[in-house]
Amino acid sequence: MLILGVDTSCDDTSASVVEDGTKIISNIVSSQNEIHKKYGGIVPELASRRHIEMILPVVDEALHNANVRLEDISAIAVCHGPGLIGALLVGVCFAKSLACVYKIPLIAVNHLEGHIFSIFLENPALKFSFIALVVSGGHTNLYRVDGFGKYSELGRTRDDAAGEAFDKVAKLLGIGYPGGPFIDTMSEKGNPEAIPFPRPFIRGGLDFSFSGLKTAVLTHIKKNPQSKKEDIAASFQAAVVEVLVKKAIAAARTHNLDKIALAGGVSANRALREAITKKAREEGVRIYLTPPSLCTDNAAMIASAGFYYFRHGKYANLDLNPKAYLPLGLAYSRP
Ligand code: KG4
Ligand code: ZN
Repeated sequence: MLILGVDTSCDDTSASVVEDGTKIISNIVSSQNEIHKKYGGIVPELASRRHIEMILPVVDEALHNANVRLEDISAIAVCHGPGLIGALLVGVCFAKSLACVYKIPLIAVNHLEGHIFSIFLENPALKFSFIALVVSGGHTNLYRVDGFGKYSELGRTRDDAAGEAFDKVAKLLGIGYPGGPFIDTMSEKGNPEAIPFPRPFIRGGLDFSFSGLKTAVLTHIKKNPQSKKEDIAASFQAAVVEVLVKKAIAAARTHNLDKIALAGGVSANRALREAITKKAREEGVRIYLTPPSLCTDNAAMIASAGFYYFRHGKYANLDLNPKAYLPLGLAYSRP
């Protein structure tokens, strides 16, 4: 069963053909980094315009690389939120048009749900229930995942997302955009213990907060202009990683689960992958990761989640509209 996935939620135009929810046949991602890097962040209007230019060639290429025609596709799964509304509109309108003209079932997938299902592309044998840490440029959320459609939010950031903090700190250091991968690489040459940046919310519940840490970096740079960039990057990264690891492990312990899946752009971070794998081994918890190319936004993860909608006969209508704000799951109410 072939699902065509489409994602235009932020600054990547992506289309993918996935077989039976886990086998990637093609996965095309057209990045807009070149457009946005001179602004040091995503300019929503420019993102929408670029999606309009790229959606047709990207979908064409995904079908071509998979060596299939639209007639071979069982359903079109499109990300309808959360994300930038103008960007989402492009993917949703395009998917609706294809579905209407070719009479193909339409499926609406939440972007965060897509990130969670990216894990199955690499680990098809993963069984429910597990903890998912979705950590990206727009979100830092902890979920308990009990099955398809059964997501309970356990914690979230109260201000900046971790990826946003990476991008803002990279901007302060003037080292490139998007900042996460640059900080990741630069940290290899720095001392993670050089500067004792705060570990926000390290004790307490499962919520996160990263804006104070970003301010601490800014204050440090102002007071210590001679401080090595490599040490600042490594010390900042160490603070973020420690908080993420601690909360994810605490979530697993509290919910008596022995599996943690990591998803979203920041889960490509080498220090995070290493630290959580090490800590989890000590705690008897298994970590599930996906390759860096599937951590960042892609349509294969949307097609993967779409397969489960298809199996459950959950289709969207042609009145589907994108939503900038679209939470996944409700606050966990059981102890
Ligand atoms: O999942 P994603 O592609 O888009 C959103 O849904 O937000 O995540 C993008 C974020 C950016 O903030 C980027 O800097 C961060 O993921 N990122 C990383 C790494 N690769 C991407 N952060 C830290 N280390 C990385 N290696
Ligand atoms: Zn994302």
